[in-house]
Amino acid sequence: MLEVKGITVKFGGLTAVKNMDMTVEKGKIHSLIGPNGAGKTTLFNVITRVINPVEGEVYYKGEPLIKLSAEEIISRKISRTFQNLQLFNGMNVYENIYSGYVNNYKKGIFSVLLKKNKNFDSETREKILYVSELLQIKNRLGSYPSQLSYGLLKRVEIARALISDPDLLLFDEPAAGLNHTETSEVEDIFELVNRQGKTILLVEHDMALVMKVSDKITVMSFGEKIAEGTPAEVANDPQVIRVYLGEREDA
Ligand SMILES: Nc1ncnc2c1ncn2[C@@H]1O[C@H](COP(=O)(O)OP(=O)(O)OP(=O)(O)O)[C@@H](O)[C@H]1O
Ligand SMILES: [Mg+2]
Repeated sequence: MLEVKGITVKFGGLTAVKNMDMTVEKGKIHSLIGPNGAGKTTLFNVITRVINPVEGEVYYKGEPLIKLSAEEIISRKISRTFQNLQLFNGMNVYENIYSGYVNNYKKGIFSVLLKKNKNFDSETREKILYVSELLQIKNRLGSYPSQLSYGLLKRVEIARALISDPDLLLFDEPAAGLNHTETSEVEDIFELVNRQGKTILLVEHDMALVMKVSDKITVMSFGEKIAEGTPAEVANDPQVIRVYLGEREDA
């Protein structure tokens, strides 16, 4: 479904991603892990067309993505959440979710601010209610981000990613900062969404979560792929163990 081929990204003299290959299969939960600074978010930013690689191509359903813009990515049914929450503080939950709606991606943000909820058509309203029910935030639709816990904000971001009905979802550290209960709720959401046929590419440091939900794991370190396989294969890979133990010693 998603094929990353020979992607290299440079920031000045720093090579953040180096000749990266990765294939995400349809219907799977695929995790991308690795120590801080490994290049995971950078690769997400290439796939979602936030940044350009110096080399390589990404194919999605056979179509090359690098020529597309970030807006066009959403219409191709790819959506994401961000490592650092990117919600609009001046909009309530309802409006924030709406801002991810595919038909309104660009003009939507302004129309939301100008017209308010009452002008949304019934199909849009139904979609917002559906995803907010799925994420169990239906009773918070009128709240503003500043009024919500971090766990709820993360759910709002997931709801916003789901409103465009994506086939591929990219989650960048969705469990970071969450407590144990909130993490297991996020896990349930992934499994539910995945059962609906959606493919998930997950960046996450919570290894228990990764090991539990992943069909396949790709491991990056210093911009390069160092291992790939099932959770069991990756967990027993000597190079992966070395990278993670090394990280722990530094900490
Ligand atoms: N916009 C940027 N300008 C310059 N350097 C950057 C930029 N974004 C990322 N980097 C650098 O690129 C490397 C990869 O960063 P990236 O954020 O992709 O890592 P990551 O694997 O997502 O790490 P983490 O787990 O901490 O989120 C790091 O060395 C980082 O400092
Ligand atoms: Mg990151």
